[in-house]
Formats: sequence, structure tokens, C-alpha cells
Amino acid sequence: MQKGKVAVIGAGEMGHGIAEVFAIGGWNVALCDVDRKYLENALKRIGESLTKLQSKGSIKEEAAEVVRRIETTTSIGDAVRQAKLVVEAVPEKEELKTQVLGEVEKNASPETIIGSNTSNIRITTLGSHLTDRTRIVGIHFFNPPVVMKLVEVVKGDETSESTVGSVVEILRELGKTAVVVRKDTPGFIVNRINAADLLFFGLIQDMKIATPEEVDAFGRSQGLPMGPYELLDFVGIDIVKNSMDYYSKVLSPEYGKCRTYDELYSKNMLGKKTGRGFYDWSKGRPNIDSSKATDRVPLIDLFSIEINEAVKLIEEGVASPEEIETAVRLGMNRPFGPISVAKSLSNSEVKETLERLSRQFQVEVFKPTHSISEGKLREAIEGRLAESKSQKSETVEAKSEMGKAGGKVLTEKKGKIALITLSNPKHNTIDAEMLDGLSEALDSLWNDRDVYVILVRGQGESFSAGAQLSSYFRTATEFLEFARKGERTFRKFSEIPKITVAALKGYVLGGGFELALSCDIRVSSEDARMGFPEVTLGLVPAWGGSQRLARHVGTSRAMHLILTGERITATEAQSYGLISKIFKDVDSEAQAYCEDIASKTAPVAAMLAKRLIIKGTEVPSDVGLEMESFAAGILFGTEDLKEGVSAFMQKRKAEYRGR
Ligand SMILES: NC(=O)c1ccc[n+]([C@@H]2O[C@H](COP(=O)([O-])OP(=O)(O)OC[C@H]3O[C@@H](n4cnc5c(N)ncnc54)[C@H](O)[C@@H]3O)[C@@H](O)[C@H]2O)c1
Repeated sequence: MQKGKVAVIGAGEMGHGIAEVFAIGGWNVALCDVDRKYLENALKRIGESLTKLQSKGSIKEEAAEVVRRIETTTSIGDAVRQAKLVVEAVPEKEELKTQVLGEVEKNASPETIIGSNTSNIRITTLGSHLTDRTRIVGIHFFNPPVVMKLVEVVKGDETSESTVGSVVEILRELGKTAVVVRKDTPGFIVNRINAADLLFFGLIQDMKIATPEEVDAFGRSQGLPMGPYELLDFVGIDIVKNSMDYYSKVLSPEYGKCRTYDELYSKNMLGKKTGRGFYDWSKGRPNIDSSKATDRVPLIDLFSIEINEAVKLIEEGVASPEEIETAVRLGMNRPFGPISVAKSLSNSEVKETLERLSRQFQVEVFKPTHSISEGKLREAIEGRLAESKSQKSETVEAKSEMGKAGGKVLTEKKGKIALITLSNPKHNTIDAEMLDGLSEALDSLWNDRDVYVILVRGQGESFSAGAQLSSYFRTATEFLEFARKGERTFRKFSEIPKITVAALKGYVLGGGFELALSCDIRVSSEDARMGFPEVTLGLVPAWGGSQRLARHVGTSRAMHLILTGERITATEAQSYGLISKIFKDVDSEAQAYCEDIASKTAPVAAMLAKRLIIKGTEVPSDVGLEMESFAAGILFGTEDLKEGVSAFMQKRKAEYRGR
């Protein structure tokens, strides 16, 4: 959809930020509120924010230029006239929203898309009074809209595919990550999962299991920027209570069970905004004593509750596992979501934890959902539930792109070469999902007779900055198994009967360096920086690096590189014999290099030569020499040998067939 005019109704906390996002994206914005004082305040906040963005170089234009695209009005009629899109952001009250949306429809053109930024209320409910319900859609930004990448796009029961598709396209152009919520449900994805968390943290206080400070100190020790109770105070207890009241009406009365929120609300202890909530905010951010950290609220409890809600959403066909993972990660600002945590837990661990929590808190919401009860957690998080509605749901325009975002390894065949591309934001860090992707890619290429050479490369500026250390591990054994998984996966690069080439650039660190060392040949751009930072982090290279590096460069250099964590340049790596070629434009030149190898190398001979070199370093030399003779004997009977010799005699290029 071409840029044009957008109307934002409600210029409060969210509305002013949404207006700013659209104005930065080149849209003309009509910002509407009931009183000019709210509009003036909104413009002031937008101006301040844009000035900051300009000073950081985050926007291309002058702040004043961007502000000029925003007009303000107190008339909904004026705001929506000629608007292509409307985003309603008035307070979270069903009646008020329905009335505002009705007025929007009355004044807008019949083509205008009508969006609501509601946090919880079903879009179908909000649109039920409209004449044309195909144009109403949830456009749920997260706070602050300028910073938060995620926007949930919620399809009401009657919303058309073209409405959803257009909104997804607009959001992408604004640089946002749009996750489509395919089935309208209260709270959509992130807030629905968060609702169960809110119930849990509320009941912990009701039952005096641990104080807010004890839980928050523990949360911070686990790397959270804010503990859960501090965050509740920050968001506002009134907002939490209103959401819980709504969920108690539409999801389960149990959401209204928690007394603590009601008590704080009745005493006007709404958190930061009133100076007191769980904490005293009168002197600024509360001081949380880290020595108070308790393990009486173990992380597995919270994770199991979130996994349970995520599986419910999958069962209901609200979203796919990948979409849920992306939404929670981006919406809650976490390094991992419930799906990746579930991958490191067994069905019985999650099930038993949920049964215990359900008994302890007397809450059905925490009971394991039926897939987990039936031992099908794995099927659910891998999108393999036989009758999953998510699999049956219609495809919308956004779906194919989202599938790609979930897959961290992209494989493509080009003639005799296969290109494996590591694709993960933030320098292609490697997690369990990427290891699975690499393993599957190699398995599918293993017996593919058309492919002679495999080129491994990274998307973006780096090859790979190494293992994703923020992945969740509960025990040393799990971490050990993660190490073994990486080692097993990388071993495949040296065992696969194809020539493997790594194209290095940017960061080639830790696990990324180990992946490169597992390949048969490494080529590089000039800007690549290689190294093993593990020892400086309290780790060791555990995906084969400590073994392979010494075999490639000798123990003395391996000692230096691993024990100091020093990074080396491509030129230094070439002088150590690690890099075969340095290219100016490694992305295109590495591919041409592989095509050249594939066009002139006899595949069976290459496969045997590779094995002789790798295994030859592990056996006494007389055994290696014997292996060499056997290999020569095997090659004697191949068609490729006959073709190679006759092409040589006839002075033509050999046409090998891998036989
Ligand atoms: N605050 C958050 O963190 C957050 C995050 C995501 C979504 N949301 C949702 O966004 C919506 C707005 O929340 P908020 O935090 O910006 O609220 P807010 O109270 O800060 O702002 C709402 C604005 O709407 C204006 N308003 C009220 N009635 C109006 C009318 N009839 N016409 C025009 N303007 C009117 C108010 O004067 C106010 O300025 C809610 O649905 C909320 O659930 C909030």
C-alpha cells in the first residue's frame, strides 16, 4: 500500500508513539484527542523523542521535518477524512472503543482500514457494531512503539485477508516485525501468555510464598533487567487489574481470583504513577537488595506456565510455534520465548510441574493442557499436532515470510553446489534450532548425487559470532548435551562425502570459528576476525575447536589463540594456513570458487581424498599409507577415472558423473 494519511485516535502513552512511528515512516498523520492539552503534550513528547533519535543518527531527516507531517485535531471526523488507515488508541474500555470505532466508520471512506491498538479485547467484539467488519483489524503495538519491533496483527472473525495483508505490508515498511494472530482470542499472543504469569505472581503474594523483593532479586540475578513485581509497578496496577477483570469474564473466572491486585488498587497503590505499589517509588526506582534472592519461586514454574499457554494457543490455531516464539521474544524483550525453552524440557517435567502448581494454587488455568497431558509437547512445539487448527488455518500473505524468519538455516541448490546460509539476526549466532537446521540440511544433501560442493556462509555482515549463550539451560548436563549436539553437527561437515567450503567474513568467533574449522576449505573476506573468546568467558571451545585448531595450526599456535582469546585477521589466518584464499567480495567470489571446484573435481576421488586426509591424521602413518592404497584401488574401477584419463589424453574438459 502506498503511503498516505493515517489517523491516530487517542494521543496518550501509545497514540503519541504510534503517530511518531508513522511520521518517521513518511506518512502524514492526523493525531486526534478529546482536548488540545493532550495533543500539545503529545507533540512535545514526540518532538523530544525525535530530537534524541536525530542526535543518535537513528532517523534520516531533521526532527522538525518529521513533526511537520503531524497535524492535530479534536475532531474524529476531520482526522479520518481521506485517511487510508486509522489506528484507535483510546483507553482500554470496551464501550468507549466501540463508540469511537463507530464514529470512525461513519466518517471514513469505505476503503479505510480501521485498526485498534487494544491490548486485550477481541477484535471481533470491537467490530461487532460496524457495518463492514472486513476492515477492522487489531494493530497491537508494544510500548514504546518507536523502540519495540513487534506488532501483533489480529484478524477478527470477519476481517478480510486483504486487510491483514495490507497492514502487514505497511508495518514491514515501517521496519516492524508483524506477527499475524490468525484466530481472534483475548490478549492475542503476548498478553494472553502474560495473563497466566500475572495470575501466578499475584497468587504468590496472596499465599505469601515469597516477598516481591525476594522474587525480583532472583529475577535480576537471572539477567532480567527488571524483576516481575517492579515491572508490574512500572506498568501500573490499574492496568493489570483491568486486564485481569477482563480475562476473568472472557477466559476463566480464575483470573479474578488474586486478592493482592484488588487490595493495591483499592488503596490507590498503582505503582510508579502514584508513587507506591509493591514498592515505594517516591524516591525513584526502588532499591532491590540482591542478597534477598530466593529460589522459592523456581524458573521452571514460570516457564511451565508460559509453555502451557503457548501450547493452548497452538491447539486453538491462534498462531504457529515460530510466531509465538517471535512474539514473546520481541514483545517481552527476552532472549528466548516459551518454545525454545520447551525444547530443553521433557514433556513429563512440564506436566509434573503444572500438576503441582495447579494443586498448590488450586487453579485449573495451570493444569496441563491436553497435548501436554497426552505427552505431545514435542509435537505441539514442532507444529506437528495432527489435528492442530494452526495447520489447517488459511494462509495469509505474511505467512511465507514468517516461515523463513523461523528457519535459521536456508539451503539452496545451484547446479553442482549447495549453498547453506546461516540466518539469525545479531551476527548469525548459533542455537539449538540452528544446529538442528544445519544437521537436517546436511542429511538431506548426504546422498544427493547432483551436489559436489557445499558452501556455508552467513547472512549479513558476519559468518557467525558463535554460540547463543543466552539459550536456557537448567543443568550442567543439559549444557553438556548442547555441546555434544554442536560437536555432532559440525562433525557432519567433515564426514559428508562432499567438499565443504566456509566463506568467512565479519565475526568468525567461538562456535562460528569451530564450524569453519570443521569444513574442508576456508576462504575469507579481508574484514574477517577470527578467534576463540571461550576461555575469557569461563568456557572452553566445545564444538570441536580445541581439537581441530591444533590439528590445523599445531599445538603452539592453538595454545596461543585459545588461551589468550586473541582475534586474528584474515591475513594472519592465511599465514597460519587456516585460510586458502582471501577475496574482496567473498559472497560472490566464494560461490564462483566453489563452482570452479565442482566443475573440475571428480567427486568420488574428492570424497576419498578428504577421508584420507582427515582420518590420516588420527592413525599411524603405515595405516594411513595402507588406506591410501585401498582408496586408489577403489578408484581404479570408477567411470570417473576412465573419463578423467581419456579427457586428459583428448585435451578436453572431463565430464564427471560421480560413479
Ligand atoms: N500503555 C501501554 O503500555 C499499552 C501497550 C499496548 C497497548 N496499549 C493499549 O493502547 C490503548 C491506549 O492506551 P494508552 O496507554 O495510550 O492510554 P492513555 O490513557 O495514555 O491514552 C489514551 C488517550 O485517549 C484519549 N481519548 C479518550 N477518549 C477519546 C476519544 N473519544 N477520542 C479521542 N481520544 C480519546 C485520552 O484523552 C488519552 O489521551 C489501550 O487500548 C491500551 O490497552 C497500551
